[in-house]
Amino acid sequence: MQHPTRTLVSLDAGIDEQTVRASLPASADIQIVGIVRGVDETWTTLQETPADLLVVACSGYSERTLFLITSVFKERPGMPIVVLAQDSPDGFLRRVFEVGADDAVRLPESPEQVNFMLQKVLVRKGAAGTMKEHGSAPMICVLGPKGGTGKTVTTSNLAVALAQAGKSVSAVDLDLQFGDLALAMGVRPDTTMYDLVQSGGSLDAGKLEAYVMPHPSGVRVLVAPTRPDQASSVSPEFLREVYPLLRATSDYVVLDSSPGFEPEVISAIDNSSYVCMVGTLDTLSLKNTRLGLETLDLMGYDPDRIVLVLNRADSRVGIDDEDVLAVVGRRPDIRVPSDVEVTRAVNEGTPIVIAKPDSAGAKAFRALADEFLRREGAPVAAEAAEPKRGSTKQLHPAGSLNSDGNNNNKAPAEALDGPRKRLRLTSRRR
Ligand SMILES: Nc1ncnc2c1ncn2[C@@H]1O[C@H](COP(=O)(O)OP(=O)(O)OP(=O)(O)O)[C@@H](O)[C@H]1O
Ligand SMILES: [Mg+2]
Repeated sequence: MQHPTRTLVSLDAGIDEQTVRASLPASADIQIVGIVRGVDETWTTLQETPADLLVVACSGYSERTLFLITSVFKERPGMPIVVLAQDSPDGFLRRVFEVGADDAVRLPESPEQVNFMLQKVLVRKGAAGTMKEHGSAPMICVLGPKGGTGKTVTTSNLAVALAQAGKSVSAVDLDLQFGDLALAMGVRPDTTMYDLVQSGGSLDAGKLEAYVMPHPSGVRVLVAPTRPDQASSVSPEFLREVYPLLRATSDYVVLDSSPGFEPEVISAIDNSSYVCMVGTLDTLSLKNTRLGLETLDLMGYDPDRIVLVLNRADSRVGIDDEDVLAVVGRRPDIRVPSDVEVTRAVNEGTPIVIAKPDSAGAKAFRALADEFLRREGAPVAAEAAEPKRGSTKQLHPAGSLNSDGNNNNKAPAEALDGPRKRLRLTSRRR
């Protein structure tokens, strides 16, 4: 039978014991085995008394508290540590996560809420070993073979549209040197993935949560380093640790990327469930889109898991779906019109699905979100898929059949005359 969680409470100098006691849960699952004051006393008690959880209470910025957490994290890496902080001056809570705390609560707080938090940490910590395998939310890698095709605009709007559809969404900016996803979304880059790398120590969902920046839509954004020289600190290995944690705590993960197939982009593709390829409607860009698709083919990426977006698609340029099919080898799944509102929304740092929800651009991005919702088996509202004024064409979701019974999005074999040999750039697909 499982015993209650034996909890040791450590009080820092200056914290009022009654305030802490008033917030401690009276639940049968949490057994307080001691309330001690000071680092030394805590350390001695931990050696002598079996404990499963350490609660550290402090009244403000406290080097002693940071030292205690650092020591316990080092000596007892499996022990969950929760901080109760009466005041939390700027940067203190971030520091407690950096040195190894699993979560932090501001006092005063009700015993019920503190209990909920402790249980959450215990579940998370207990599941930490298996979480990586179980983080299975779909991950969409937004790609564009060259700069300026609309990857960031697509990522920001797709992420927000999925959030507007009620999904919990994380977005990651993989344009490590010149990432501007935060700018496009109007998110402050207070903490970036560079800060997360620099924090050292082990990575878990709780810590990651402290470094993602919230967007009003609910999207959590892991921001790219703010300076190009910081980019090399963020390795593909590190990002491979991040993905399963985000996939365990979100319904969708959307990745913005840099132009080209950088190592972190290849690794992201390898780990993704879908690629959203963004091209623009001119012959040069279409040629590059085709090259991008051929590269994915060489990587052994399942073509049914690629969604093709044609951005700045405008009927007036004289290129229709048949031309796209001839050059690229497949029809577009979604056409996003060239819309001055898109540019305006980017400049204002508000994705167009929020800034101008009725615009043609917003509808196209909602249709893109619906494409992924549909592929994941979620019911979608009819509205978003409606074409508007001929600027977005009727959608042909990949895998759907046209009146001839053919898959609309499959390329005729002769359309792809590029190299067919499969090159094992990657070891697995999802
Ligand atoms: N459909 C559109 N209509 C009007 N303007 C657009 C549209 N899509 C993108 N833009 C504009 O094009 C510019 C480039 O878009 P975006 O930053 O999304 O491209 P990118 O592929 O992420 O570029 P980079 O490779 O440099 O990261 C932006 O300033 C944006 O406002
Ligand atoms: Mg970009």
